[in-house]
Amino acid sequence: MSKPWERVRCIALLILLALSTACSGSRPRADNPATVTALMWMPESNRLDQDIAREFTQKTGISVRLIPGSESAPRRLAQEMALLEQGSSAVDVFQVDTIWPGAVADYMLDLKDVLRDELTGELPQVVENATVSGRLIAAPFYVDYSMLYYRTDLLQKYGFSHPPRTWDELELQSSRIQKGERAGGRQDFWGYIWQGAQYEGLTCNALEWQSSQGGRNLLSPDHSVNVANPRAVRAFSRAARWVGTISPPGVVAYIEEDSRNIWQSGRAAFLRNWSYVYPLAKRSREVGNRFSVAPMPVGVDRHSSVLGGWYLGVSKNAPHRREAIAFIRYMTSREAQKRRAVEGGFLPTISSLYQDSDVLRANPFLAGISDVPNRVIRRPASLVGAKYARVSEAYAHGVHTILTGQISASTGAGNIQSELERLTGFSRPVEASARPVKQEHP
Ligand code: GLC
Repeated sequence: MSKPWERVRCIALLILLALSTACSGSRPRADNPATVTALMWMPESNRLDQDIAREFTQKTGISVRLIPGSESAPRRLAQEMALLEQGSSAVDVFQVDTIWPGAVADYMLDLKDVLRDELTGELPQVVENATVSGRLIAAPFYVDYSMLYYRTDLLQKYGFSHPPRTWDELELQSSRIQKGERAGGRQDFWGYIWQGAQYEGLTCNALEWQSSQGGRNLLSPDHSVNVANPRAVRAFSRAARWVGTISPPGVVAYIEEDSRNIWQSGRAAFLRNWSYVYPLAKRSREVGNRFSVAPMPVGVDRHSSVLGGWYLGVSKNAPHRREAIAFIRYMTSREAQKRRAVEGGFLPTISSLYQDSDVLRANPFLAGISDVPNRVIRRPASLVGAKYARVSEAYAHGVHTILTGQISASTGAGNIQSELERLTGFSRPVEASARPVKQEHP
C-alpha cells in the first residue's frame, strides 16, 4: 500500500545504507569482531529472527545486524536492487523472494558448493527455483502457501457445514454471514478480505483467480501470454464484483498486513493469506480459538494456491563473506527452520520437517502437504528471469484497473495481454487469437 510513512522509511533506509557504504567504500570493512549485516524483515518474524541471530552470535562470536526492509515485496526488491546495482558493501545478506533469482543472480555468490551437504534434505523444486545457469544464488529459507482462513464459530452460526470449496460457495457464505452480522449491529463487518493493492501480492491473488478458473498461467513455457481468455476475464470480473459487496472498498489498497489486521480483529469471516498468519491469529484474543484454515477455493482447476517463499543470499560485495555464509547456514538449518515453523508458521524447505511431530502440532494444516511445491501454481518468473518484475507489475496494474472499476474485465484483460506480449516477445496462444473474448462488464 502506498503509505507515506513507508515511503519515508524506505528513503531513510537507503540513506542510512548509502552513508554506511560511503564510509566503508566497496572494500571489506575492518570491524573486529565481524558484524554481518542482513537486510531481511517480516513484521512479525522480526523478534524470532532476532532471537535466532542472537543465538548464532552466542555460539560463534559473530555479531549480526538485522536491517528492516519494506513490508511490500516489490518495494523490497527496489531497495535491494538499488544497493546491489551500486555495488554497495553495506549489506552482506539479502532476503530473496522466490520470484527474484533471475533479477539478483548476477550480484550473488554461488552457494552450490559451500552448501552442498545442507542441500540434500531440501525440497528439490525449491533448490531448482534458486538455481540460475547452474549457480545456486541463495539458500532456501522458507516456502509460502496461500490459505483460506475462516471463522469456525460463524460457519456454525449460519449453518454451513464446511468452509467454501469453490468461489461460488465463498461468495454465498460471505454474503450470508456479512448480512447476518450487520443485521446484528456490526455495520463494519465484511465477508472476504484479501490483498488488492497494486503490487506483487495482487499478482498472486489474481493468478489464483485466473488459474483456478481454468484461465491458465499468465505466461506458459510454450512462450504464450494467456490473459485475454474468457475464463480469466470471468475470474477478474468476479473479483471486481467483490469490491464494495463482500469485501471493503479499501481492499484495493491492502497488502498482507492490512488484510491480517482486519480479519484478526474479528471484522471479517474469510481471509486469504500466507501461513505466517496462523500462529499470530492463534495468539489473538478476537479469533484465537475460533478459526481454522482450508485450501483456497477453486473454480475448475484443483490448483488454487500460488507458491511463495524466501531465500537468503550473500552479495558478491559482502565484506564478510565467510561470516555471512555461516549466518545463512545457521538461519536455514534444520533447527532454525523447525523453530521458525513452530513459533512463526513459516513452512520449512527441508522435506523431513513435514513429518516432524512438533511442526505438525503447531501447524496442523501441514499434515499431508509435504509436496507443497507440487500442489501450487508457480508464478512464471523462471520463464522471463529479470523481466519478471515488469511483467508482474503490468499484470497487477491491469488487474487493479479492473478492480477499481476504471475499465471492464475484458478490456483490462486485453490491455494486459498486449502489454505482456510487448514486454516478453511471447505471443497469443493459438486458440485465444482464433476466438475473440466476449465483452463483459464488471
Ligand atoms: C509473500 C510470499 C512472496 C510473495 C509476497 C507477495 O511474502 O512469500 O513469495 O512475493 O508474499 O506479497
